[in-house]
Amino acid sequence: MEVVRVAGLQKVYGDGGNPLYALDNVTFSVEEGEFLVITGSSGSGKTTLLNMLSGLDVPSAGGVWICGSSLKDMEAEERTVFRRRNIGVVFQQYNLIPVIDVYENIVLPLRLDGALIDEGYVEEIAKMLKIYEKLHKMPTELSGGQQQRAAIARALVMKPAVILADEPTGSLDSKTSMEVVGLLKSCSEKFGQTVLMVSHDEDVAQMADRIIRIEDGKIRE
Ligand SMILES: Nc1ncnc2c1ncn2[C@@H]1O[C@H](COP(=O)(O)OP(=O)(O)O)[C@@H](O)[C@H]1O
Ligand SMILES: [Mg+2]
Repeated sequence: MEVVRVAGLQKVYGDGGNPLYALDNVTFSVEEGEFLVITGSSGSGKTTLLNMLSGLDVPSAGGVWICGSSLKDMEAEERTVFRRRNIGVVFQQYNLIPVIDVYENIVLPLRLDGALIDEGYVEEIAKMLKIYEKLHKMPTELSGGQQQRAAIARALVMKPAVILADEPTGSLDSKTSMEVVGLLKSCSEKFGQTVLMVSHDEDVAQMADRIIRIEDGKIRE
């Protein structure tokens, strides 16, 4: 089953006189359960692409379909709820909330959604990501790798169809990077998530089922 479809995606920045095509006619699909890595040099359009996929930003042309639903055709509020339920996002800087503990960070999407907390599932993903003992620590008491594993748990907690990760290992050393990505991969395999991850780390890219390379806003095969 096709979980992600990107068709004719274009993002133009700047005024009419000097437009910058951050994304230029990008088309691809991702099947359920795939672990896709997106690579490309700095400024090639990777973050722009992920922001379109997560519905954080709107395309100038073309569209994104997640599980058959077109993001740009949703009302703002509908899109917010759809994103929360279907798209888990992991950032380079973890983006944990510093004033609440790790457990509260992980279950935050459930609280925002008014959903019940499946304590068994939270325990399972925390154990799998090796942060179970850290659940009642504050984010600042954790190492970078532990914080990123907590952020991955938060992305998994809604059991979204898709996980999007923009250079999730960009702030980690290479050994920790491999561990974090390995855990993300095992979780996505176990819980059936489709993963799209931006990375220019060659070792990390080796773990992908498929690699898409972007140059100057275009897919280069
Ligand atoms: N908000 C913005 N306004 C204008 N130009 C932008 C904006 N965001 C990104 N760009 C430009 O779009 C291009 C792609 O950027 P980005 O997607 O961040 O690349 P990457 O993540 O691959 O490094 C770059 O030339 C960048 O300067
Ligand atoms: Mg980027």
